[in-house]
Amino acid sequence: MDKSCINVGILGWGTVGTGVSKILVNQNALISKNSSVQLSLKKVVKRTLPASRDGIELPSDCLTSDPYDVVDNPEIDIVVELIGGVSEAHSLIKRAILNGKHIVTANKALLAEHGSELFQLAQQHRVSLNFEASTAGGIPIIKPLQESFTANQIQSIYGIVNGTCNYMLTEMNERGVDFADVLKVAQDKGYAEADPTLDVEGIDAAQKLTLLIALAYGVNISVDQFHVEGITDISQQEIQYARELGYVIKLLAIAKLTDDNSVEARVHPTLLPARSLLANVGGAYNAVCVIGSAVGPTLFFGQGAGEMPTASAVVADIIDAAKSIQRGVSSPISHGWFTGSKSEISISPIDDIETRYYLRFVVLDRPGVLASIGSILGRHNISISSVIQKEPHCTETVSLMMVTHQAREKDMQAALAEIYKLDVVKGDAKLIRIEDEVDF
Ligand code: HSE
Repeated sequence: MDKSCINVGILGWGTVGTGVSKILVNQNALISKNSSVQLSLKKVVKRTLPASRDGIELPSDCLTSDPYDVVDNPEIDIVVELIGGVSEAHSLIKRAILNGKHIVTANKALLAEHGSELFQLAQQHRVSLNFEASTAGGIPIIKPLQESFTANQIQSIYGIVNGTCNYMLTEMNERGVDFADVLKVAQDKGYAEADPTLDVEGIDAAQKLTLLIALAYGVNISVDQFHVEGITDISQQEIQYARELGYVIKLLAIAKLTDDNSVEARVHPTLLPARSLLANVGGAYNAVCVIGSAVGPTLFFGQGAGEMPTASAVVADIIDAAKSIQRGVSSPISHGWFTGSKSEISISPIDDIETRYYLRFVVLDRPGVLASIGSILGRHNISISSVIQKEPHCTETVSLMMVTHQAREKDMQAALAEIYKLDVVKGDAKLIRIEDEVDF
């Protein structure tokens, strides 16, 4: 198609939508210089009008409150979905695809739930569906997984992909503050939502992991198919004991190819060696480590959220779609997940993982307690690597910390069920899985 100027419509003028419009309008000449693509922002949908934003002037006929002014508009070539949520975004994107529009979205929740259907629809209608900003905001990770690692079998992915949790864990580690206090600060700073559930329960990270797994392994999985555990149980005690043991706690999204050709998928707080690069990714930053069979470990680092970092990824997707339009071909949707072909790879249950564990029991300080716990662990093939017990302070209970050698999750859970039956053990243990492989 010979089209000298590509017209763009944006659904949603919140934080990211504003950043995208700023780049499209204020940096239009830079975009043409860098990419040889001429873009024009035709329409922006803001539900409640009028609206204005600092740092950007839009022509009055550009703003509309009606999303169909974008998805049904014959002048618009690329629809950028930034309204978030699932239901409305799903129906608007479908309608835009049926109208032949190319799509750019940052909506991981939508793709985690409806990705397979939407990519197949896009393929049928020969339009591109780009989603770089859906995972790790401004960090390029989707395109590298689609293009740059094709000579590799992806062996594992370790992602710090939720900036809110990373900010909270960093503050807890560096300032000694408790979870509840740091959550309040994160909310005041605008990192955490008023309802922080999606972030602190690990669901946001899990949605992003489904996209990374789809790209790396061609497996279309949903969040309820794997183990997802957030950071709400992480206390100052765990942070401090982890430090004493030489570790830092991070919320990690993990995917690993196993020897039997299945993939481990899990999101949970994880102990990382304190000297490792990932352990030192602080504040609201994100990082994704991809280990490939040929390339070895790689690390992608940057801002995983925020107006301009996320807008950077969205505009790069818009430019890619514009180039496809000018070349008269849609971006190839080559991966199995997108084309609906079956992958040979299955997801292995959490019971089958083998890892090292940090455990903290609260126990009565009596003779034989350590021996009883150790004997149950031993009977379940779990070997203890180190033990710490602190002197009791004015209570008859003490914390007993253990780090194990490699053990199977199934064995660990069976052992814990038995240990909880001991009268001397008070409440459930704190259990945090350890990843020593991430030691670079
Ligand atoms: N709420 C996410 C985070 C950003 O804290 O990283 C959007 O995915």
